[in-house]
Amino acid sequence: MRILVVGGGGREHAIVWKLAQSPKVEKIYCAHGNGGIAALAECIPIKATDIEGVVRFSKENKLDMVVVAPDDPLAAGMVDALEAEGIRAFGPRKNAAVIEASKSFSKDLMRKYGIPTAQYEVFDNSEHAIEYLRHQKYPIVVKADGLALGKGVIIAHGFDQAHEAVNSIMEDKVFGEAGSKIVIEEFMVGPEVSVLAFTDGKTVVPMVSSQDHKRALDNDEGLNTGGMGTFSPSRVYTPEVADYCMEKIFKPTIYAMNKENRKFKGVLYFGLMITADGPKVLEYNARFGDPETQVVLPRLQTDLLEIFDAVIDERLGEIEIKWNDGAAVCVIMASGGYPGKYRTGYEISGIADAEHDPGIVVFHAGTSCENGKYYTAGGRVLGVTAMEENLEKAIKKAYEGVNKISFADMHFRKDIGRK
Ligand code: AMP
Ligand code: GLY
Repeated sequence: MRILVVGGGGREHAIVWKLAQSPKVEKIYCAHGNGGIAALAECIPIKATDIEGVVRFSKENKLDMVVVAPDDPLAAGMVDALEAEGIRAFGPRKNAAVIEASKSFSKDLMRKYGIPTAQYEVFDNSEHAIEYLRHQKYPIVVKADGLALGKGVIIAHGFDQAHEAVNSIMEDKVFGEAGSKIVIEEFMVGPEVSVLAFTDGKTVVPMVSSQDHKRALDNDEGLNTGGMGTFSPSRVYTPEVADYCMEKIFKPTIYAMNKENRKFKGVLYFGLMITADGPKVLEYNARFGDPETQVVLPRLQTDLLEIFDAVIDERLGEIEIKWNDGAAVCVIMASGGYPGKYRTGYEISGIADAEHDPGIVVFHAGTSCENGKYYTAGGRVLGVTAMEENLEKAIKKAYEGVNKISFADMHFRKDIGRK
């Protein structure tokens, strides 16, 4: 089969890497890919958000499947556009991707179907929101309704900060139209776990659990980032918690989406917080997480292409999905300054040396490749993933890999896996 993967970060590298292991895969294209992906797939200069370009390329090349990985093309209806042209596509349609693209939609869905989540109110008027904030307990959480590159959530420690958040989202429109509505939500406390699940709208099959380190600096200090590292499994996601989530969250969400005539097919990501009152949903994503995918897919034993096919054909219940019992840890190596300003174009050394260990794979997030040399090309540059029999060993191995790699201004956290 000939497949196109849409996207170009570490998550897409992990998807391409896993698909390339399938005996049924003849050729992989990636739009637009990156320096590391280019070793496994033909990278084509089409933007991940260019629906017309992706559809045209897929038609012209008679592709067998297109995997849409990032949030924006899913929210904009890339899967619908591909299906309309008779092209098999993996990912939710626009009317289901809204579970990520609109937080007010997902909160109302959870309230309607009794799925555990934080208490909240939705506002489309900033004066009403500010009036409401005068009578609340703090901290409180203010969220832009739409997609905001993971930056649309502000934890306000007092009224003034919440007031400022409402103004910047709704009046100054710092997130554009994503901020024409806001959700104001109860602040919850507890460890966060990510559970990605395959679903064909009938069956839901959770993948192994993982945890993300979102802050830029050690001990969860510094600014929020797209993720500085991940590990799998989570220590707090016990079999009891998993059973509870299956019955109270995963199955009810699939049921709810069907009831609303928004059948969800693809990967549904449950961002969970394990609170004193039990697990609650923080957010849904309509796709694989980044960098969660970089620790989850290396633990998958089953052919990923077979799973994608089963999801598209709605026969996920007929296949068996197997995982390794061990653990995986991914340390992100970023450009100094990220998530603020940073420079790119520095040569990277040591990747092949790190990958000399068969338990290590280096996923590229933001790199370019010229004449066989890799250069930094983004905020998050590499994700060094190590696989081992347990977390302790995987942490040690991941840092052995990291220590072999270097580039100017590099920054990484030294405590990934320790929470
Ligand atoms: P989200 O994009 O909704 O996952 O929010 C980003 C991050 O903000 C989450 O990973 C949490 O760390 C934090 N967060 C979001 N909602 C809440 C909440 N209700 N209580 C506490 N922290 C939250
Ligand atoms: N790592 C969180 C996300 O992919 O949204």
